[in-house]
Amino acid sequence: MDAFRITGGKVLSGEVAVSGAKNAALPILAAALLTPEPCHFERVPELTDVGTTLRLLAELGVAVERDGDRVTLAASSVRTVQAPYDLVKTMRASILVLGPLLARFGEARVSLPGGCAIGARPIDLHLQGLAHMGAEVAIEHGYVVARASRLKGCHHYLDFPTVTGTMNLIMAATLADGVTIIENAACEPEVEDLATFLNKCGARITGAGGDRVVVEGVTALKGASHAIIPDRIEAGTLMLAGAITKGDVTVTGACPAHLEALIQKLREAGARVDVDNDRIRTTVPDGLKALTVRTLPHPGFPTDLQAQMMALMTVAKGVSIITETVFESRFTHVAELCRMGADIRLEGQNAIVGGVRELSGAEVMATDLRASAGLVLAGLVAEGETWVRRIYHLDRGYERLERKLGGLGASVARVTAPL
Ligand code: UD1
Repeated sequence: MDAFRITGGKVLSGEVAVSGAKNAALPILAAALLTPEPCHFERVPELTDVGTTLRLLAELGVAVERDGDRVTLAASSVRTVQAPYDLVKTMRASILVLGPLLARFGEARVSLPGGCAIGARPIDLHLQGLAHMGAEVAIEHGYVVARASRLKGCHHYLDFPTVTGTMNLIMAATLADGVTIIENAACEPEVEDLATFLNKCGARITGAGGDRVVVEGVTALKGASHAIIPDRIEAGTLMLAGAITKGDVTVTGACPAHLEALIQKLREAGARVDVDNDRIRTTVPDGLKALTVRTLPHPGFPTDLQAQMMALMTVAKGVSIITETVFESRFTHVAELCRMGADIRLEGQNAIVGGVRELSGAEVMATDLRASAGLVLAGLVAEGETWVRRIYHLDRGYERLERKLGGLGASVARVTAPL
């Protein structure tokens, strides 16, 4: 199982290009199920989660062609509407095939994802929405089984702006009979990117990216080409990597409008952030100061950058308070950061982080993707060597992170290590 061996203390500098967004690519690839015509995608990041999605689509009968970051999918001869447990259990986002399969084929059987490292993460809101659109939904033998000869448009209010839930409902609504209005929809840029792609296919979606999405159902969709938006979480992680080493890092090919909450917080912490079109340069002229950060649905501070921001705060001057409001147990990095000398106390959903002068390298591991990224960032400034184990979590969501960091001057080696 691969690990990263990081030698801390290198000051990062230079330019690094951002890859396509994982959380946009996964739903958009699943959306290709909605049309029998071929769809062409560019800037598809080379990640394990993308590989899992393509395996799942192939399993369903979709023709898959992949050449680097280009993918072509053709769902003209789908042979089953069943997404099996062994694929869904490794990636919760597999639930994204539920809406498209049900809408186009009138039936879907998707394994329930089960628990995960960052909380219970139920899918009840996905199912409530589909039921409101007229689907019969049952749980049978560990599978969600949904049936509807044709879904019907409805006016649906989401109890929480779930990201993949909003995406599933939008995809389902594209082929429904009549108009679907989703209130309290997730406003994440990835939802908007999905709608942009679907509209190219002939869907009629307005309001995506806002909290009220209107979908006028059509009878069929056609194929289209689409380039995935840049990954704001990867961009943010690289900006924070530069900042923690007090370096001078410019991320290129980014979308600064998607990163406003982070940019504002970094400036508050004493970093200088200069934005020039798709380039974001981050420097730290006079040290880092403590912050108050609260994760929220977009446009609030993203939960997917919480662990990396916490790593930064471990070496900032003063006491920071980081509140996680999106997931109930997304603090698996805390105990590991403490093993590296961080001063963090957990009180319910708050982490109280006292800045320390220095972290020290240690052997650490994390049980989720973004927590692993937080540990890598801590390793960049820790004195001595840090081993981050189980980086298969990182590979799910970061494209060759060690090479991107290495290009900026970090010393990060991928090592095949015993368990
Ligand atoms: C997506 C992102 C993930 C990100 C998260 C929050 C993808 C593939 N993943 O995950 O990277 O961390 O948004 O920004 O896009 N909830 C329910 N019932 C539901 C659905 C969600 O109670 O039916 C709760 C969850 O337990 C959680 C909160 O709502 O507490 C947010 O979850 P949600 O927005 O659905 O996250 P995902 O779409 O799974």
